[in-house]
Amino acid sequence: MTDRYQTFTRTPLGKALVKNLGLPNPTPLPRWTDGSAVIEGPVVFGASAETDTGKAIQALLRDVGASFSTAAEGVASSELRPKALVFDATGISSTAELTSLQRFFSPVIRQLGTAGRVIVVGRTPELAASPEQQIAQRAIEGFTRSLGKEVKRGATVNLVYVAPDAHDQLDSTLRFFLSPKSAYVSGQVVRVGTGPLVGNDPTAPLAGKVALVTGAARGIGAAIAETLARDGAKVIGVDVPQNANDLRHVMSAIGGSELLLDVTAIDAPQRIAAQAQEQGGLDIVVHNAGITRDKRLANMRTDVWDAVLDVNLRAPERITEHLVSSGALNDGGSIIGVSSIAGIAGNNGQTNYATSKAGVIGLVQTLAPRLGERQIRINAVAPGFIETEMTARIPFAIREVGRRLNSLQQGGLPIDVAETIAWFADPASAGVTGNVVRVCGQSLLGA
Ligand SMILES: NC(=O)c1ccc[n+]([C@@H]2O[C@H](COP(=O)([O-])OP(=O)(O)OC[C@H]3O[C@@H](n4cnc5c(N)ncnc54)[C@H](O)[C@@H]3O)[C@@H](O)[C@H]2O)c1
Repeated sequence: MTDRYQTFTRTPLGKALVKNLGLPNPTPLPRWTDGSAVIEGPVVFGASAETDTGKAIQALLRDVGASFSTAAEGVASSELRPKALVFDATGISSTAELTSLQRFFSPVIRQLGTAGRVIVVGRTPELAASPEQQIAQRAIEGFTRSLGKEVKRGATVNLVYVAPDAHDQLDSTLRFFLSPKSAYVSGQVVRVGTGPLVGNDPTAPLAGKVALVTGAARGIGAAIAETLARDGAKVIGVDVPQNANDLRHVMSAIGGSELLLDVTAIDAPQRIAAQAQEQGGLDIVVHNAGITRDKRLANMRTDVWDAVLDVNLRAPERITEHLVSSGALNDGGSIIGVSSIAGIAGNNGQTNYATSKAGVIGLVQTLAPRLGERQIRINAVAPGFIETEMTARIPFAIREVGRRLNSLQQGGLPIDVAETIAWFADPASAGVTGNVVRVCGQSLLGA
């Protein structure tokens, strides 16, 4: 659905009203298209100290063909508008050294270009070398989350914590955060750990992989299926029999296969496993199917409560358990849950939905350490306001507020959720597990 207000702000009258009345002024966000470079425009790199992580970041910037300079080369006074500012903060070992963030960013932040990227790479606090370092590294979250609220013109700010000796795992994550694929992801904190080095082709990272996407007939699920297929995966799309035509339409366009079933059916895990085994097992599982049945708790019937919990939480739990224990999910695989900011912040009239979506986060946090032994990763996305049929049905005034209540002052698109999932699914993200990333334009709701 189109954002008419945003279109209006691009007209001469709209521009004048925005300026004079101080109205929200959302910048159109560029998305990734075939053939796009990872980053178009100059990058400025800075560091608190010289580290192996800094060397890995600079090697990646060279690899993606970015023209970059270091803060030491005097870029602060450059006339160029940097497209990205990347800072290696892993060398910060005490709170006194946090000043290196201010010294690097203050002179250059105003120059950041339209839809610019700020990425700070820190050391995972709980794996820090000393209590002093742990405190200082934890402090960086406050810096990046605040800076995300200060930057303008569609820019994003994210923090990547890297474990000791995991700098060789940063590539896929930095590519994602530098590129237009992360257009609607801001104010997030992700953790990258150690893992096997996977040298795949970044233009077809999922070649040879088999992916299952539930709720693939429309909306976000259709975008996920299309994006995973774009990246080389063979997709099995699942949806309810009532949506057979829509599912066929989506799957035939991407050369995928269909599996018509209700994910809450008693035999759903077995039927999915059987279809997966025919294709050599699954490498990627995306639990996207979801429903809302909003009612205040005082008016909530048991069947309405159960329906939401069954589709959104019990089905992903049961299907995951069976795919893992039966071996239908291959070692090295990737499971992705679809949560919601309602599961983080809570929402009036959504006790059932928010319980189910917080449970998806519980699934990630509980299973990530357990599945690590088989190199299976599990992460979740938590979308905010995404422009779909579901959000188009929200009454105008509530919709308008929901859409603007984030740092980017606009709703996201299904592709924004799909790109985040594709980054999680990438085998090169071997060190990325146990994360919940909000795709919400840094919504003001929740943490
Ligand atoms: N749209 C948003 O702003 C938003 C925000 C946060 C989270 N989400 C989550 O993203 C996911 C996709 O949302 P959407 O907006 O695309 O919704 P949607 O209603 O447009 O699509 C959901 C799909 O899931 C399928 N589905 C529902 N129940 C099923 C079942 N029992 N078995 C199999 N398939 C089933 C539906 O038929 C449909 O095709 C959901 O989990 C939703 O909770 C959406």
